[in-house]
Amino acid sequence: MKTRILGPFSVSAIGLGCMNLSHAYGTPPGAEAAEALLLSALDQGVTLFDTAALYGFGANETLVGRVLKPHRHQITLCSKGGMAGVSFPDGVKRVIDGRPEAIRRNCEDSLQRLQTDVIDLYYLHRWDKRVPIEDSVGAVSRLVEEGKVRALGLSEVSAATLRRAHAVHPVTAVQSEYSLWTREPEIAVLQACRELGAAFVAFSPVARAFLTGALRDVAKLDAKDIRRSMPRFEPANYAANLALLPAYEALADEAGCTPAQLALAWLLTRGDHLIPIPGTASLAHLREDLDADAVTLQPALLSRLDALINQRTVQGGRYSAQSQSEVDTEQFESV
Ligand SMILES: NC(=O)c1ccc[n+]([C@@H]2O[C@H](COP(=O)([O-])OP(=O)(O)OC[C@H]3O[C@@H](n4cnc5c(N)ncnc54)[C@H](OP(=O)(O)O)[C@@H]3O)[C@@H](O)[C@H]2O)c1
Repeated sequence: MKTRILGPFSVSAIGLGCMNLSHAYGTPPGAEAAEALLLSALDQGVTLFDTAALYGFGANETLVGRVLKPHRHQITLCSKGGMAGVSFPDGVKRVIDGRPEAIRRNCEDSLQRLQTDVIDLYYLHRWDKRVPIEDSVGAVSRLVEEGKVRALGLSEVSAATLRRAHAVHPVTAVQSEYSLWTREPEIAVLQACRELGAAFVAFSPVARAFLTGALRDVAKLDAKDIRRSMPRFEPANYAANLALLPAYEALADEAGCTPAQLALAWLLTRGDHLIPIPGTASLAHLREDLDADAVTLQPALLSRLDALINQRTVQGGRYSAQSQSEVDTEQFESV
């Protein structure tokens, strides 16, 4: 596997997003299958693993910590705080809380679940807009001073917020959604990362399965699948988006790769500072996704791909109004 630079770390050019092993897309795999998936990624050269306090309300970190503990020295372990499960009388709920004391508590809980003394890259999962970004970043900066965290990351932030944060503590990476059908980072954040020497970690890089061609019928999604709340997966929008796939699949054929590989290989062409982190529960899909780092795309094909799937050709926003209000990213005027 090729490598890329992530601040002080050299990591596999494609990392592994671990969220779906505990949460998000229907029933997650059992413990044995999840363990096999993580170990297979490690065997195939993945050295960048991404989790968060939020995923499975701690269960994902517990899983990742247990399975990867014997291999801790080989990997760059990334987690996130500032958005986590909080217990209420009627159950555990997701809460965004960027106050310094909340971030410290999240991080200390994560260290325990991950069975490690230090988290290599610790992201603010969302900027809590009620708290100045300088204060939330200051909390992570103190965790760095104490040796509990090695580097700071931000998720779903605008270029302006990134710059404010960077003035307090160097930002090693921004993690936001980026793929052919989610182009918002192209407005300003990709360039800001390049200027500041930060990596850009692309989440949902195969468009939560859309760009793999495997998801044809959204009516079959599990009732709790988070895609059900996303406008572009609503049946009418998704039907319009599916109409883009035959031409997309033809481009993948032409490039000699699968649709999922085309989505990942395209991201790798968007800058040396780009690192995609696909998620999968399938060993076969994992192998397929990781092999994308060997795919070469010709400039003429890249132009056709760019024109085929972009913010003008995709129908439906990426988030519900509520989720959109919780992020800070730039938006295209028409969205
Ligand atoms: N910072 C944030 O706010 C944030 C938000 C979302 C995600 N993330 C991170 O990004 C990671 C990846 O994002 P994601 O899981 O949302 O999206 P993704 O990687 O774009 O898509 C995952 C979906 O695609 C399917 N898939 C993957 N490879 C496939 C292949 N080769 N063929 C067919 N289907 C394939 C998976 O199903 P199978 O299991 O069937 O393969 C799964 O349903 C997460 O694990 C998490 O670490 C961060």
